[in-house]
Amino acid sequence: MKTDSLSDQRLASTVTAMERDLPRIPANQVETPVAVVDLRRAATNAHNTVERLAAHGLAWRPHVKTHKSRFMTRLQLAAGARGLTVATLREAEVMADLSHDLLLAHPPVPGRVRMERLAGALVAGNLTVAVDSPLSVRTLQAAAREAGITAPGAVEVDVGMGRAGVPTPEQAIRLAADLSEGEGTSFRGILFYPGHIRGGEDPETEMRQVSARVDRIVDALTAAGLAPEMVSGGSTPTLHLSHLVEAATEVRAGTCIFHDRDSVSTDAGGEEDLAYWILSTVVSDAVPGQVVLDAGSKALAKEAFRGGGPGFGRLLDHPGILVDRLSEEHGILELEEGGWRPSLGQRVRIVPNHVCVSVNLQDQLLAVDQEGDGFRVISLEARGRLPWQSPSN
Ligand SMILES: Cc1ncc(COP(=O)(O)O)c(C=O)c1O
Repeated sequence: MKTDSLSDQRLASTVTAMERDLPRIPANQVETPVAVVDLRRAATNAHNTVERLAAHGLAWRPHVKTHKSRFMTRLQLAAGARGLTVATLREAEVMADLSHDLLLAHPPVPGRVRMERLAGALVAGNLTVAVDSPLSVRTLQAAAREAGITAPGAVEVDVGMGRAGVPTPEQAIRLAADLSEGEGTSFRGILFYPGHIRGGEDPETEMRQVSARVDRIVDALTAAGLAPEMVSGGSTPTLHLSHLVEAATEVRAGTCIFHDRDSVSTDAGGEEDLAYWILSTVVSDAVPGQVVLDAGSKALAKEAFRGGGPGFGRLLDHPGILVDRLSEEHGILELEEGGWRPSLGQRVRIVPNHVCVSVNLQDQLLAVDQEGDGFRVISLEARGRLPWQSPSN
């Protein structure tokens, strides 16, 4: 089902129309380092994700933490995404009016300000909230009472990553029963995150092990009269293996909208899927054997390469050339003698190791303009932690 260009004409014209509403900036006003996206590639990635999952009866509930942008969310929904995943209350607030089905994949705990915002988010949008402790259930119930609604909860289960989520069917049953029987909540289903599978030796076997753990929990819940309506899972590195978890109803992959150096090092994406880069300028060649770029850890993020090996990113147009070292505002390319060498002032495109953390460092994204020599400006409304006020309020 994978296509290399945006073959879906309806989506192509929707994206073109959406793009025209974005503010324009001429190319000669662009300062580096700056994040640039190719919306045709991003729309193709969204389209391919929907198709790939639909072929196995799975829905796509993209995680908006990757792009933090209302524009990109609208693009994903236009491509056929069903529902959204958010990690922060700000993301929930920003996206509330864009979808009728949001999943907050982060367990709530008590705290005056958090509770008020959670209650507000419950009122503003149709929000399902992940829980993995009796306290998180009670917190959700308190927020739901404050909001005056019944809030759906989903029990997070651990399938091997060892981060959040209960590991046993007994614990899952207890939390599901608390949600189902307690005042202010209902039980909607379970969520799992196979974040421990990132390429590696035998991701298929690992994914089948995840499937067995999910089955055990779903079977136990069903036997207890608490059959889950939603079984939400997935990630970008396991996107192509999503169908191996037979009980799943949806996949929350986020990174696949842009891809990055990490994701193309797995089978999740190819070179032609890379839709995000940092445009950067060579600012120094004073030290022999290297050049220095103006993009450092404050543009790329200092994340290790999960594919194994050195570098904090690599050039899009010269994939063998890595950003070997980083300071905050310096990125160093070590160059082989006699090989390719950019000149002072030359611009290069860098693919970061992990796109989500790079986006989080940007003020905005620039989309390559289809209609001339310039860019369209995409806002990143969901960045930061403070409460969001819609401009229309
Ligand atoms: C709970 C949860 N769901 C979904 C995702 C999306 O995974 P990916 O970034 O690999 O697409 C993440 C990523 O961190 C996550 O933490």
